[in-house]
Amino acid sequence: SGFVTLDTGYKNTGATKSAITFLDGEKGILKYRGYGIEELAEKASFVEVAYLLIYGNLPTEAQLADFQHQISRHTLVHEDMKKFFDGFPSKSHPMGQLSSLVCSLSSFYPESLNPNQTKEEFELTIIKLLGKMATIVSWIYKKSLGHPVIYPKNKFDYVTNFLYMTFGQRTEDVVIDPVVVNAMNQLLILHADHEQNCSTSTVRIVGSSDCNLYASISAGISALWGPLHGGANQAVIEMLEKIKDDGGDVDKWVNKAKDKNDSFRLMGFGHRVYKNFDPRAKIIKKACDDILEKLGINDPVLEIAKKLEEVALSDPYFVERKLYPNVDFYSGIIYRALGFPTEMFTVLFALGRLPGWIAQWKEMRENKEPIGRPRQIYVGEINRNFVALEKR
Ligand code: CMC
Repeated sequence: SGFVTLDTGYKNTGATKSAITFLDGEKGILKYRGYGIEELAEKASFVEVAYLLIYGNLPTEAQLADFQHQISRHTLVHEDMKKFFDGFPSKSHPMGQLSSLVCSLSSFYPESLNPNQTKEEFELTIIKLLGKMATIVSWIYKKSLGHPVIYPKNKFDYVTNFLYMTFGQRTEDVVIDPVVVNAMNQLLILHADHEQNCSTSTVRIVGSSDCNLYASISAGISALWGPLHGGANQAVIEMLEKIKDDGGDVDKWVNKAKDKNDSFRLMGFGHRVYKNFDPRAKIIKKACDDILEKLGINDPVLEIAKKLEEVALSDPYFVERKLYPNVDFYSGIIYRALGFPTEMFTVLFALGRLPGWIAQWKEMRENKEPIGRPRQIYVGEINRNFVALEKR
């Protein structure tokens, strides 16, 4: 029929049925495959959670060992990819590099282009992506420093290996602090899926045209880059730094965010679905105190962040609109404490979100969903007569 319902931003449109992530925005509940995020963040490893999201159940010990082993066999990235990588300007944004490099995996592993891959071939595509993305992210960091890349050490678990490739040196044995490994595991788990957000919807819709997994994920990475989505974690720290340099007058900045003639928003505040505390933000806030203390770091922006939260949450503007701190509000302070520069934050979000994107893409294919193709309400001109160029 010609009847089209307009819902810009898809605020009320369910695009799919999904059995992966449950989110109750009014109550502030988030679960992966039925398991509360709090319990997973405390008790599971990131690879376990990746398995849970992608295959639907927590792995047995043997399944987990096999999964980890498979991933570690695919952590090397094709040497020819370095040629692209070397061509990026050294100051180019990590998200642009990541999106391009992940898309180029489809050229190096063209078996992924076949939409009728066997189950085994598809499993291998998933494993390769999981294995290689951590290596690519570490390369991007090394390049930003002008340092040589570090090759993976497959005796390490996923997160330790990632931290080794990122912070290790070719010339030295590196000891990875277990506090850092735990913090990284936790942050990756908390970012691993979030139902039909902008980047995940992008991954599903790109995949719905039978486009390959690597290119679909690359599109998701691009969607995540924006400051209204994953890019908010970088924007939060930049904002907190600005407030600090401006003398730390939090009230002034809260008022600025409320001013409708000013485009400034409190970054890391508000959410399309949560009208309550983002449960991830609660966990991260607590972890933040904990990790900074364990690492002996005193970051003045943490105090500013806490003050900002306090002022905003007692202000009618934020209360009426139900604007609470979201996942991005405190995560950057931890990333920074672990040693990551601000520009890497959104890339770390992408690394965490990868299993969710894969699980959602797989579900979309298994459900045999039709190609995603929204309609529109046309409001342009209807009939115009062509006027020759010289007469316009
Ligand atoms: N600061 C000031 N006002 C805000 C903010 C904010 N951070 N967020 C929303 N509002 C106001 C907005 O101006 C609007 O006011 P009014 O009703 O008077 O016009 C009202 O609250 C509703 O906002 P909206 O823009 O219609 O809500 P949305 O669901 O379209 O947007 C959002 C959600 C997350 C894009 C938005 O809250 C925002 O821009 N937040 C800052 C960026 C951010 O932290 N993004 C990360 C989101 S969570 C993780 C992720 O997705 O990666």
